[in-house]
Amino acid sequence: MTSPLQEIMNPKRIIIDTDPGIDDACAILLALASPEIQVEGLTVVHGNCSLEQGTRNALAILELAKSEHVPVYKGFDLPLVQPSLLAPETHGNTGLGYATLSESQTKPQAQHGSDFLIEKIMSNPGEISIVAIGPLTNIAVAIRKEPRIVENVKEIFIMGGAIRHEGNTTPLAEFNTYVDPHAAHIVFHSGMPIILTPLDVTYDCILTHQDVERLLRIDSPLTKFIEDATRFYMEFHDEYQKIDGCIINDPLTLALTFMPEICDYQELYVDVDLSGGVSMGNTFADFYRLTKKPANMKVALGVRPRDFMELFLERMEKLAKSVS
Ligand code: BDR
Ligand code: CA
Repeated sequence: MTSPLQEIMNPKRIIIDTDPGIDDACAILLALASPEIQVEGLTVVHGNCSLEQGTRNALAILELAKSEHVPVYKGFDLPLVQPSLLAPETHGNTGLGYATLSESQTKPQAQHGSDFLIEKIMSNPGEISIVAIGPLTNIAVAIRKEPRIVENVKEIFIMGGAIRHEGNTTPLAEFNTYVDPHAAHIVFHSGMPIILTPLDVTYDCILTHQDVERLLRIDSPLTKFIEDATRFYMEFHDEYQKIDGCIINDPLTLALTFMPEICDYQELYVDVDLSGGVSMGNTFADFYRLTKKPANMKVALGVRPRDFMELFLERMEKLAKSVS
């Protein structure tokens, strides 16, 4: 077990694979605000918005946080098999709700996101962790192109799935696994060490109006961004799910990279439905070991929400002060 000081002196090296996205933006900001981790790069994937838009968002978020040194790589703009499915009703037409960030001066790297993942992992065996907070297309293709990344990646933290929880995109399926279920299937069965953060825990983590008011006490472009982005997200949650506030799925997954104790886990065999019917993209776990298949991931099924929210708010306050 490492102490907090050791973590800061020897930060966890992560690549964030993302479809930015309001809660993706919050996860990227949390990563940049956390000394326990070092962001090696962002790989962008289709999902909440198009690849082009998501790439613009990634660059603009980095600029907002004065972190333009972090390289951004474009990945895939379509799922492996399924037609494209974006989420403008949830994240707005730009993916960032009501926020308007000016276009960054920085450009994305020329290398493809899946090739960057392969190169970084293979040249740093056992050192790189992936935080995958969008559909899993980039990761699945990287595995197919270079299967040895499975043994060489340290671990992959995935935001996706709904194990005992209802779906948020179909009655049975969560967005990231529904959008590219074939990619999720490849990753789930790849043998990579997986830590899954499904809706079962993220739906306990609600950013409230009071939380945003607390952040707004700091006058900063960063707190204004969070307010403008999450106001749209909160309207969506109110209209579609009767939730007061908004669920910030992706930052919880990010937080588990350095504060795993926020959640309780079970080692489980988890699969994703590809049959094409009403349960397409549904994730299900073999709790009673009926299939006799060995566990293929650690699944977060319990969470201490206020510990996480407090961490998120403190880190955002710190970052807001440093960029204002
Ligand atoms: C996931 O889907 C997206 O809308 C969010 O960014 C998150 O990654 C939640 O189902
Ligand atoms: Ca996301």
